[in-house]
Amino acid sequence: MDFFADTAEVSELRQLVGLGLLDGVTTNPSLIAKSGRKMTEVIAEICAITSRPVSAEVVATSTEYMIAEGKELAAIGPNVVVKVPLTEDGLSACRAFVLSGIKVNVTLCFSLVQAIVAAKAGATYISPFVGRLDDINLDGMQLIRDIRDVYDVQRYDTQILAASVRSANHLGEAALAGADAVTAPAAVLRGLIKHPLTDAGLAKFMADWQSTQPRPV
Ligand code: G3P
Repeated sequence: MDFFADTAEVSELRQLVGLGLLDGVTTNPSLIAKSGRKMTEVIAEICAITSRPVSAEVVATSTEYMIAEGKELAAIGPNVVVKVPLTEDGLSACRAFVLSGIKVNVTLCFSLVQAIVAAKAGATYISPFVGRLDDINLDGMQLIRDIRDVYDVQRYDTQILAASVRSANHLGEAALAGADAVTAPAAVLRGLIKHPLTDAGLAKFMADWQSTQPRPV
């Protein structure tokens, strides 16, 4: 399963590269807005530090403008994946991008049937939002399992990119559910390394070791 970082902060991405935990990056208009920078500038900077897939989301809402905007984003680098919302306009733009060889991440997916229509439109990735379904007391992870089952039976090659993943538990469950990739905030990805028993075990090893060392006179 690939680990994508859901962030527009380049410093966070550099840390993840150093840990070998960065298989790709996703951004969205909220994250870019939070960075206070221009979308094209942020995407270009991210592409300069990774050759793995980088999702850049269009902010246009009509097919015509999504296509124009997406082409501009795709021109930033060969690894840019244009992200479009799961709307009629978004799926029409998706078709157009696929026909011109541009990879597409279809985002804001909240149901199995939405995931099916995105696959039929040729999406490279489908992004079901696990956390936001959980927020309204639905079962986000069940959606991942259902999409996995249907994509396997129907032989769709769209990759399932579990999004709105907010905890280490979510990430483990997404792996069990058969997601091809997850996207999560950098802090969640770094948090995967931590376990209190690892810290306690290391402290004991160090204490035992030190107790056998000669004391300075
Ligand atoms: O990038 C889309 C998604 O990952 C957003 O997550 O936590 O804002 O629901 P969240």
